[in-house]
Amino acid sequence: MQPETESRKTVLSLIQPTGTPTLGNYLGALKNWAAVSNDYDCIYGVADLHSITVPTFRENPAQLRKNTLDLYALLIALGIDPEKNILFVQSQVPTHAQLAWILNCYTQYGEASRMTQFKDKSARYGANVSVGLFDYPVLMAADILIYGADYVPIGADQKQHLELARNICDRFNGIYGPVLKMPEPLIGKAGAKICSLQDPLKKMSKSDDNPKAYVSMLDEPNVIMKKIKSAVTDSEAEVCCREGKDGVNNLMAIYSCCTGKTNEEIEAEFRGKGYGDFKTAVGEAVCATLEPIQQRYRELITDKAYLEGCMARGAEAATRLSQRTLSKVMKKVGFYPPARG
Ligand code: TYM
Repeated sequence: MQPETESRKTVLSLIQPTGTPTLGNYLGALKNWAAVSNDYDCIYGVADLHSITVPTFRENPAQLRKNTLDLYALLIALGIDPEKNILFVQSQVPTHAQLAWILNCYTQYGEASRMTQFKDKSARYGANVSVGLFDYPVLMAADILIYGADYVPIGADQKQHLELARNICDRFNGIYGPVLKMPEPLIGKAGAKICSLQDPLKKMSKSDDNPKAYVSMLDEPNVIMKKIKSAVTDSEAEVCCREGKDGVNNLMAIYSCCTGKTNEEIEAEFRGKGYGDFKTAVGEAVCATLEPIQQRYRELITDKAYLEGCMARGAEAATRLSQRTLSKVMKKVGFYPPARG
């Protein structure tokens, strides 16, 4: 490694192409991806391998391909420069799956069984639960460890998976010496868990059956206003952050992330006003945040050749970089060096 790059920290994160990202994805993770992208060596990816762990795209594989391109464009639109950072599609970088297989053999069945997201999703998909869904966090550990990531910007729902990656890292290094770098989560305070607009005890999710529960990053302004206005609150008509006021707390978190205002400032701004005024202000702040991204996205998505060129370069750079850790790991576990034809 060059001395000048030694001090630069590496940031890595991925997002699944399950659908258009929500405001939760944006405020919880993607906003932070863009915010740190000039200060660190950032590696970001579209986690399409993760997206086939559930049956969603079995009937319509073309939809997965479309979602992948759309998401790739959206990531550029929100401020990630593919010339400065590595922006790749996971299935185009074969080293991730290779490392995941090896790490499987250093992951205990018991610890993988404790993952709450697996428990939730397997309850939802019943008889259709795949081994891939169970193995999902190990692939995620491989995504992180293969680049020696220092920081991983994620929402709170991915914290347990990050902990697992840390445990796997520790176990592997305990056997073979310091091969893998220990990653740290980067979880923002206000946006770490943006909740459903209809059930503020649940996280906002792009796979929610009720579209009123989430704001999609590509929703039109009038749709955003409607969804925010119909958000569940309470009967107190008091804008303040307090335990039990889950709906209001959630809207305050959204407003705070979009405007940079603190909870105290927000409470002062809406003292003596009702939820109508508050919701209008939240909706407008969300529209103002998303509008420039939407506009840039609309331009980019028409240029498929440009996007596919970026993808190819991203895959090549990611493969080259990740090969280093994979080679070290393969040597350590006792494999023959790759055969050269
Ligand atoms: P995914 O695609 O579900 O979500 C992408 C990112 O958005 C965050 N997020 C949220 N943050 C706040 N509030 C919400 N309501 C909300 N919903 C989602 C997620 O925490 C995530 O950071 N397994 C990952 C993708 C992945 C990954 C990785 C992440 C694959 N490999 C390696 C980091 C490192 C996932 O399904 O995220």
